[in-house]
Amino acid sequence: MRLIFTPSTAPNDHERVRMPAERFVNQLNEQIANEFAAHQQYVACAVYYDALTMPQMAGFFYAQAMEERSHAMMMVKYLVDQDAPVHTPGVAAPVVTFENLVAPVELALEQERRVTAQINELTRIAREESDFASDQFMQWFIKEQVEEVATMSDLVAVVRRSQNNIEAIEDYIQREQSGEGLDPTAPAIAGG
Ligand SMILES: [Fe+2]
Ligand SMILES: [Fe+2]
Repeated sequence: MRLIFTPSTAPNDHERVRMPAERFVNQLNEQIANEFAAHQQYVACAVYYDALTMPQMAGFFYAQAMEERSHAMMMVKYLVDQDAPVHTPGVAAPVVTFENLVAPVELALEQERRVTAQINELTRIAREESDFASDQFMQWFIKEQVEEVATMSDLVAVVRRSQNNIEAIEDYIQREQSGEGLDPTAPAIAGG
C-alpha cells in the first residue's frame, strides 16, 4: 500500500512551523491597507495645500504620500518573497475637507502615531510567534515611525505658530524638509 502524505503529516515536517506566522501574515495584510490609506490621506493633504498655492507644503505631502505607497509595496514584496498570500486591499476614504491650515498636519500627526502603534503590534505578534524574519523585517519600520512622528510634530508646532504667515511655513519646509535622499537600509519594494 502506498501512503500519500499531505504536507502537514509528512515525515520530518510535522515539527516544522509554517513561517511567516499566519497571525503575522493576516496582520501585515491589514497594514498594507493602512499604508495605502495613509497614501490617499497624504494626497488629500497635498491637494488642500496645492489649492492654497502653498507649493512647498503640497510638495512635502505629495512626497509623504509616495513614501506611504513605498511602505505598502515593501510589505507586498516581503509577503511575496515568503510565499505568503497578499490581498490587494480597498482603502478607507480619506478626509478631504479641512477647517484651517493646521488641520491637515494635526491629522497627519495623529495618523503617524496610530501607524506607530500598528507597527509595534506587528512586531509584538512576530515575537509571540517566534517569527524571527518578520521581527527583523519590522525593525526598519520602527525606526521610520520614530522619524515620521518627529517630523510631523515639528510641523504641527510650526504651522500652529505661523498659521497667519503662509510664507513662514513655506520657508520652513524649503529649509528643513527638502528631501531625505535614498535610505540604503530600506526594505526592497515590489516592482522595484
Ligand atoms: Fe507608513
Ligand atoms: Fe508615515
